[in-house]
Amino acid sequence: QKPLKVAVLGCGVVGSQVVRLLDEQAGDIAARVGAPVEIAGVAVRRLDAPRDVDVPSDLLTTDALGLVSRDDVDLVVEVIGGIEPARSLILAALENGASVVTANKALLAEDGPTLYEAAEKAGRDLYFEAAVAGAIPILRPLRESLAGDKVTRVLGIVNGTTNYILDKMDTQGAGFEEALEEAQALGYAEADPTADVEGFDAAAKAAILASLAFHSRVTAADVHREGISDVTSGDVRSATDMGSVVKLLAIAELVSTGSTTGGGPAEPGVSVRVHPAMIPRTHPLASVREAFNAVFVESEAAGQLMFYGPGAGGAPTASAVLGDLVTVARNHRQGTRGVGESAYADRAVLPMGET
Ligand code: HSE
Repeated sequence: QKPLKVAVLGCGVVGSQVVRLLDEQAGDIAARVGAPVEIAGVAVRRLDAPRDVDVPSDLLTTDALGLVSRDDVDLVVEVIGGIEPARSLILAALENGASVVTANKALLAEDGPTLYEAAEKAGRDLYFEAAVAGAIPILRPLRESLAGDKVTRVLGIVNGTTNYILDKMDTQGAGFEEALEEAQALGYAEADPTADVEGFDAAAKAAILASLAFHSRVTAADVHREGISDVTSGDVRSATDMGSVVKLLAIAELVSTGSTTGGGPAEPGVSVRVHPAMIPRTHPLASVREAFNAVFVESEAAGQLMFYGPGAGGAPTASAVLGDLVTVARNHRQGTRGVGESAYADRAVLPMGET
């Protein structure tokens, strides 16, 4: 079988693990895809930067656009993060006929529809399981497994760094800064940890979850957001005294907009918010420790489902990337496509999570 060629954009905490796993699992991946999957190149900012993995020097390049534009590239993995140049590179890759796997929550939350439409137009796959809750399979269950049900609410802990900080403050009486430094050293935090601490990262993930759960267009700007920078050791102790624990929650739900058409029942709208909350220690979310994440889904027919697992870190996030890569590689080889994101319900998104 002719090998499929993958361009990897970025070789940081996640990218280096993607490169490692592609090498270590090459035999199994080839068997699952039905053809070998080989690295065509790895685009990096600096050729001489220290890395967690040895990449053959002939694969490294600083010319990311040149790499995604190559004729022999079938698949592109984007793990650079941020809006630009990630967006331009993904659009160039799709235009060039490659399928794309990305972990880029900020970009999907800001401009997802542009990417979905480009994938539709190109007739290629765009998969992004790693963008929300690290290794936990949550986006495909929402896109596929629950596609025949009606999801009414999604509630979760979707940022590992803030959960790690709150957990260390709760269980070890650690200070905020000290716990944040540990989370950074463990590779959980964003390059700029303000995105974690102030809830921007969780808001981006909440927007993606809401878009898929409710088949709506929800962007990060629609999400009411409050981070954990104002949570003090005193707040954490008070919660303990009350038998509770402080967690940063993302909540997305279908709500009544109060407006009707033709005298029928009120149209459902979507409300999305992220904020710290005190939850009783008896609640399952209270037992989510360190950088783990958990997402509850409530739907009409299935009832309540809970998804739990490692929500941040290089290898867990790379696991989700590799899962997507195997799927899009199979599709590419067979000339088929997976589920697109072009169909949206016309739902009102309530301003800033208003209910
Ligand atoms: N900084 C993110 C977190 C990484 O802490 O959850 C995973 O998206």
